[in-house]
Amino acid sequence: MLPRGGTGLFRCGTPPLAASPCALPLTKAAPRGIGKSAMDLISALEGLVPELEKGLGQASSLEALEALRVDVLGRKGRIAQIMAQLPSLAPAERPAVGQTANSVKERCNALFESRKAALEAGREAEALRRFDPSIPGRAPWRGSLHPTTLVMEEICQIFKGLGFDIASGPEVEIDYYNFEALNMPPEHPARDMQDTLYITDKVLMRTHTSPVQARTMLNRKPPLAVVAPGKVYRRDSDLTHTPMFHQIEGLMVGDGISMAHLRGTLTAFVRAVFGAETQVRFRPSFFPFTEPSAEVDISCCMCGGKGHIGDAPCRVCKTTGWVEILGCGMVDPAVFEAVGYPAEVSGFAFGMGVERVTMLKYGIGDLRMFFENDVRFLGQFAR
Ligand code: DAH
Repeated sequence: MLPRGGTGLFRCGTPPLAASPCALPLTKAAPRGIGKSAMDLISALEGLVPELEKGLGQASSLEALEALRVDVLGRKGRIAQIMAQLPSLAPAERPAVGQTANSVKERCNALFESRKAALEAGREAEALRRFDPSIPGRAPWRGSLHPTTLVMEEICQIFKGLGFDIASGPEVEIDYYNFEALNMPPEHPARDMQDTLYITDKVLMRTHTSPVQARTMLNRKPPLAVVAPGKVYRRDSDLTHTPMFHQIEGLMVGDGISMAHLRGTLTAFVRAVFGAETQVRFRPSFFPFTEPSAEVDISCCMCGGKGHIGDAPCRVCKTTGWVEILGCGMVDPAVFEAVGYPAEVSGFAFGMGVERVTMLKYGIGDLRMFFENDVRFLGQFAR
């Protein structure tokens, strides 16, 4: 800022003018005074230029420069303050003062611009001086797909390679597709196996991807082979259960499809995901929509099926050497009947939890990691 009320002509511009020692007469009554006043205003204006030049020379930042500009050229600045006195001059004297003001404004502006350009050039030169092109760059953060998504895509890709199509169905499902068409009539005890989130009596959040089986068969004729990935919901929440998780359902229907096809297909799938050495075993089980039904175990991918890693017991398979990976079976005739398929067709179905496959594949010990959105965890899956 320029000094206010300092030496020289500048003090004429210092408000309040009436209190200033060189306050200009405000009346038109004194003719001699009028002439002197015009001269005073002109010299006050002219005096701004050298003072400003000095101020600019001392200003070392663009911010200081701007403060000076406002002080002199601003709406309430020095020039404006001097010009506010114009009405006190005789009309004949005003044009000369006005012209001086315009020329002073022009010169002040030019001074600002050139000083500003010099300061900016200095800044740039300084930045260039400090810039070291030899410093290695910082790699930008890369986004990545969630491990559940990655594994779901991988599984679908494997089944596509085996000739399966991808199918989908709604997450908000009706009772009929989720239960009834899958051989679970209203009072069926197997309904209790899945803690259901009901929306109304007949509408629910699907508890598994199996309803896509029924929907697919109602829409397509055999032969067919589909996998249906998606979200499923259950009223369940603890260390090893989340109310939403992912499943992939599989279905193959045709002439003479047998348990051998099921075993061959699932063995090929398991070896593609977990490695060619992986062993597969089928244990008899029960599902209302398959008969016979089985649960599939694979040799533990942590300890290689040995049950121990060195001397330590394997915590993944709890020393058994096997881990359960999915449920499957031959499609129950009652399901074929519900969708209006002829009695001669046969087929197999299977269903697996994607989080479970992901945990086994990557040795993830805690289900909660999938939902915590910790980039230290998620970043490990960036490709
Ligand atoms: N829907 C079953 C569940 O959520 C999984 C399942 C088991 C699906 C056997 C199948 C099957 O298609 O055949 O627990």
